[in-house]
This record gives sequence, structure tokens and C-alpha cells, in this order.
Amino acid sequence: LTRTQGVFGVGNPQAEWMVIGEAPGADEDRQGEPFVGRAGQLLNSMLRAIGLKREQVFIANILKSRPPNNRDPRPEEVRACLPYLFRQIELIDPKLILCVGRIAAQTLLQSDLPIGKLRGKLHRIARDRPMIVTYHPAYLLRSPGEKRKSWEDLLLAVRTFDSLRAGS
Ligand code: URA
Repeated sequence: LTRTQGVFGVGNPQAEWMVIGEAPGADEDRQGEPFVGRAGQLLNSMLRAIGLKREQVFIANILKSRPPNNRDPRPEEVRACLPYLFRQIELIDPKLILCVGRIAAQTLLQSDLPIGKLRGKLHRIARDRPMIVTYHPAYLLRSPGEKRKSWEDLLLAVRTFDSLRAGS
């Protein structure tokens, strides 16, 4: 067994931004906190780049337990975990959701489109909440050439967030 504990989420329960990833990895499983490994460090930098401290946002994953060998989540695992995530979204009530990575994006949008087609635009999930998709930080570590596009996504997220506030 590779799962030692559940990893439910971390951050400010009143957060205006919510980050949703895929599933805990080995570091996350050990520490019981999402995005604490190398990908997490890059996620922290991405947030910092748009003026957000990690402590200010709320971070969660689709899956609440680490899949063996970090394999892709299975449909029944997603089905088991998704109600918890939607409940988290309701409770935190974020103004904007930042979804990182193909698996999280395809799951939340119920889409088979590649991430290149899902990023860079405004989506609505969970009763009309705005969501922006970008690349997973673990992918950006492997493909740094995609960081520029991810930066554009982050700027779109900020613009979306700002325009929501202006209009409310
Ligand atoms: N990757 C994820 O998608 N989530 C984590 O918590 C860590 C790595």
C-alpha cells in the first residue's frame, strides 16, 4: 500500500482563490498536505507571481488519496472523491478556481479535449463559478517551454478575478 493518509486540502477557508490539482504524490501522502513536493514549490512561485501567498488560497485535489505509483486516477476513484471536492468548493465559496493539469481539467469539465484546448479561456463549474485551466506545475517542470502559456493563463485568471470584483 502506498497511501498512508488522506490529503484533503490546505489553506484559508475564506480564500477567494481555490487551486485544484489531480492527486497527492509521495511527498503529499507523507505530509498530509497537497502540493508540498517539487510541483508544489513551482505552484507556490506561480501564485507569488500573481501576488498570492500560498496561505491566502485554498488548495485541494480531485483525489484525496495517493494512487499507487502515481498512476492516473481511475474512474471509480474519481467518483468516490468528487463529492468531497464539490463540498469543499461550496464551503470555501471561492471567487475563482484555478485548475491545474489535464486530469483535473478533464474531470471538472467532463471533457476529453486536450489541455491545450481547455486552457486559456473562462469556464464555469459548480453552479457557475469561474474557472481557468492551466498546465500542471509538474508538467511545467518537464516542459519549461510551456511556462509562457501558463503565465498567460495566470494573467487571464487575474483579469477575470478583477473584472468580477469590479462588477460586484
Ligand atoms: N500533484 C497534484 O496534482 N497534487 C498534489 O497535491 C501534488 C502533486
